[in-house]
Amino acid sequence: MSDRECAGAVLTIDLDAIAANYRLLRDRTAPAECAAVVKANAYGLGAEKVVPALATQGCRTFFVAHVDEGIVVRRALAEAGNGIAPESEPAVYVLNGPPRNAENVMAEHRLTPVLNSLADVDAWSAFARRTSVARTAALHVDTGMSRLGLPPAELAILSEDAARLVGVRLTHVMSHLACADEPVHPLNRRQLDVFAAARGAFAKTAGCLANSSGVFLGPRYHADMVRPGAALYGVAPVPGEPNPMTQVVRLQGKILQVREIDSSETVGYGATHLAGGRETIATVAVGYADGYLRALSNRGSGYIGEIRVPLVGRVSMDLITFDVSAVPRSQARPGDMIDVIGPFNPIDMIAAEAGTIGYEILTSLGARYHRVYRGGGR
Ligand SMILES: Cc1ncc(COP(=O)(O)O)c(C=O)c1O
Repeated sequence: MSDRECAGAVLTIDLDAIAANYRLLRDRTAPAECAAVVKANAYGLGAEKVVPALATQGCRTFFVAHVDEGIVVRRALAEAGNGIAPESEPAVYVLNGPPRNAENVMAEHRLTPVLNSLADVDAWSAFARRTSVARTAALHVDTGMSRLGLPPAELAILSEDAARLVGVRLTHVMSHLACADEPVHPLNRRQLDVFAAARGAFAKTAGCLANSSGVFLGPRYHADMVRPGAALYGVAPVPGEPNPMTQVVRLQGKILQVREIDSSETVGYGATHLAGGRETIATVAVGYADGYLRALSNRGSGYIGEIRVPLVGRVSMDLITFDVSAVPRSQARPGDMIDVIGPFNPIDMIAAEAGTIGYEILTSLGARYHRVYRGGGR
């Protein structure tokens, strides 16, 4: 991470906004518990900062994808303290399951696996028996995603042979929705029904189904615990509807040079932008090496104040070029900042311009930005 003066861009991450988003989701889903998905370094925003901010809001369950990410979360929780009593230590679940021979590492860091297959169940139960310690786990059943989780045939075997879970204390039966961001998609209802049937085999075990968009499908989808990720970070949970979440990220790119070009002149690699008349071009120190997707070439947009400045030419490794002709020259000089992501061009808008989703924009945010964290969620 660079210093502010040396950096080509400043990435501001608003921890108070993440805290506000957590409260909104929590209040919407109560009495279900609201967990937080903080995998991929809290969707690129920095698990060390985000996890304590969420813990301060009362979040007591975190989900990561990998064991290494879980260790980072555990360390962040320990360093922050947050006045959490040892007996209510937060749970950290590893969604991708327990890697073979990593059982001891998981136990050492008090990480709870999500068991995604009968093989995972057998391995975790064997570990519990070998160490004579009861081990907690969540059981993931596949209800229509065909990605992770016990497929129906494996679930049937497990339901008829409870001995396979000896030594394992299931905290939750969980599943994952494939189409929650399309509220009218028939798979939502089908998955809900398959999930209800699957839970029948584990009647006293809590259920966990909804991601961010699932929260907005209504209380039937909330079960005992919800697992939002993207909405915490400001991504719209229901595409096409007004976004109830507060924006978390602002990316301000520094103008390095400004030049006037005429109608016969072109901008950037491949000469893909031909000036339509006299244009003022500002070159900004952000590029695809920073995760600013090349797909935004001739499609993206920045803002100076409230004025839209279209991205012209191709995105290159370290640079992008904006047509700032509409902006008074006094506001577009070398050293001035352009909102590459900001209040008027939020994550979801950039994603739409790039033909992708906000998740990819967030998790691509580069390492060269100067990062500033605002607030602490207290
Ligand atoms: C299994 C699982 N649960 C929950 C989430 C959180 O989803 P979202 O970010 O859409 O809230 C994810 C994210 O991909 C996931 O893979």
